[in-house]
Amino acid sequence: MIRSVIKGVGSALPERVMTNADISKIVDTSDEWITERTGIRARHIAGEGETTRSLAVMASRKALDHAGMRPNDIDMVIVATSTPDNTFPATATMVQADLGIQHGAAFDIQAVCTGFVYALTTADSLIKAGQAKAALVIGAETFSRILDWNDRTTCVLFGDGAGAFVLTAEEGEGANSDQGLLASKIRADGRYADKLYVDGGPSTTKTVGYLRMEGREVFKHAVNNIATVMDDVMRRAGTTANDIQWFVPHQANRRILEGVAKKLGVDESRFVMTVAYHGNTSAASIPLAFDVAVKDGRIERGQMVLMEAMGGGFTWGAALARY
Ligand code: UT7
Repeated sequence: MIRSVIKGVGSALPERVMTNADISKIVDTSDEWITERTGIRARHIAGEGETTRSLAVMASRKALDHAGMRPNDIDMVIVATSTPDNTFPATATMVQADLGIQHGAAFDIQAVCTGFVYALTTADSLIKAGQAKAALVIGAETFSRILDWNDRTTCVLFGDGAGAFVLTAEEGEGANSDQGLLASKIRADGRYADKLYVDGGPSTTKTVGYLRMEGREVFKHAVNNIATVMDDVMRRAGTTANDIQWFVPHQANRRILEGVAKKLGVDESRFVMTVAYHGNTSAASIPLAFDVAVKDGRIERGQMVLMEAMGGGFTWGAALARY
């Protein structure tokens, strides 16, 4: 059986760091409120020359170096993003060009904060179907560009960044002892589209629009949706939370993650949390957190890792891998 193995990981953050104190000079908020309600202390904000494309390329180069591979080894580039450089072409084609790759396929996936889980699931399916042998799966965002910097209920929550995985097709036994993606599940329920959305777009307003969110409504659904889809993926793989060493969640809010950990009966120390210093980077948050935990030695080869996310749409999903 073909398995999609995580050969390398990499990430990139804009240079500029914006602290809660910096934000409290722009809108009526405080470090105390933001820290208490979300766990966020700072986030990176893209400067003029930094875009989703440039962050994605930087993260990809690091992931390729980590994998010991060259750009030309890649035959599929997928970028999960809701903040593309242009409405079209796909940011993935720009990344492909910047890396000097002239073969294979490149496309974007849009599932907001669940984008990386959707992209991993898509890449894994295409690798298993024989469409690609080595994929760059990237989550990259510049949400700072779609924030209403007068709206304190949203602008304090998000940050910019990118993370990338190199996935390669390898022969496995079809057992949980295999390295690579073991199981995943993606979900959506469009009835909740108006709870977290952008109030503009090419076909409606002909503008990009700004992010709008009913935070409390999203929060209400988050813990249940996330815990349910994680259970579903563990059941599909025939495993339990006890067998999983690390949980790498989408980083939206520390309180949501604490709620999920409690529901699963897992100690919080097994949840990789980077929300304090990255904020919510949407589709980039899982590979960013994964990279941090690989590079600081927490996630080791051979360990099982469960990733999960929930975001606009609503969309949600989870993916289990043996690193
Ligand atoms: O990644 C995609 C998924 N997104 C999420 O997961 C976000 C989910 N939601 C959340 O994380 C939380 O709902 C928030 C952090 C967004 C908000 O926390 P909350 O505990 O649900 O607060 P709230 O929206 O109920 O607001 C409580 C109070 C309100 O004041 P009143 O009406 O009680 O007087 C807000 O106006 O806090 C006020 N408030 C603020 N105060 C200071 C809202 N934003 C701020 C702010 N600073 N930045």
